[in-house]
Amino acid sequence: MSMIVARSLSDLRDVVNLWRSEGLGTAVVPTMGALHEGHLTLVAAAKAKADRVMATIFVNPKQFAAHEDLSRYPRDEEGDLAKLEQAGCDLAYLPNADEIYPEGFVTTVSVAGPAKAGLEDKFRPHFFDGVATVVAKLFIHTAADYAFFGEKDYQQLLVVTRMARDLDLGIEVIGIPTIREEDGLAKSSRNRYLSKHERHQATAIIRTLEQAAEKIRIGGDPQVATKAAARSLMTLGFEVDYVTARNAETLAVPVSSDEPLRLLAAARLGKTRLIDNIAV
Ligand code: PAJ
Repeated sequence: MSMIVARSLSDLRDVVNLWRSEGLGTAVVPTMGALHEGHLTLVAAAKAKADRVMATIFVNPKQFAAHEDLSRYPRDEEGDLAKLEQAGCDLAYLPNADEIYPEGFVTTVSVAGPAKAGLEDKFRPHFFDGVATVVAKLFIHTAADYAFFGEKDYQQLLVVTRMARDLDLGIEVIGIPTIREEDGLAKSSRNRYLSKHERHQATAIIRTLEQAAEKIRIGGDPQVATKAAARSLMTLGFEVDYVTARNAETLAVPVSSDEPLRLLAAARLGKTRLIDNIAV
């Protein structure tokens, strides 16, 4: 069976309504395209959970800052559709920007809690409102039972989970562990911008996070361990935005020693900004 491609909300709704009338459970995997194995693993996990799987491809202008250059975001529609079909996706939804944001659009989903943890939000102030606004629309458009997100973007996963609950969107958000290259670097559409030398250096992020997690597991102070990790990344030539230990469920700064912890890092190598995170 070949994959359906829907480019308008009404085309999408025709299919979704048919599936609903047949009593089929559905899942959605929101993406911005430039698909790699991380995205395709989300599709595979969605297939294991639901009868029908939709992937969305939309490069969301509302989550880019002026200096981030929306027009430079990698696009490969043909390649993406082939990968989705190969992964067994049932439908790809590629809405036009003027269907998502029609003339006169003024409403924003404003998120707080994990969205105001002082992590990505500190460096990209409008990012999570932009993500929440488009994801809310995609949840409403697809009316899916489940949505799959990667732990790679851990703060985003918590923000979207909270939003779906707060707004009673009727969709269960499921997080999937980060897919990595053989040397540990988290797969990302941005890795293509790394020079050969930077690509080699980039593995230091996960290595230093793992070393810090290990120190904490054997009783080390999380603050001390993450500070040391940040210092070693700086020594290796990174510009570090943050390396920090946070409560894994709220992203709040931990106050007791028995909280579940997540280590999160963001650092720049040349012009490329990389993020990663692991459980302790
Ligand atoms: P995008 O960067 O395309 O990522 C789409 C989904 O793939 C996200 O849930 C992300 O966490 C997941 N993902 C990316 N790399 C991964 C990896 N190495 N392992 C596992 N999952 C990975 O995130 C966005 O798009 C956008 O903000 C979006 C949610 C689509 C809203 O516009």
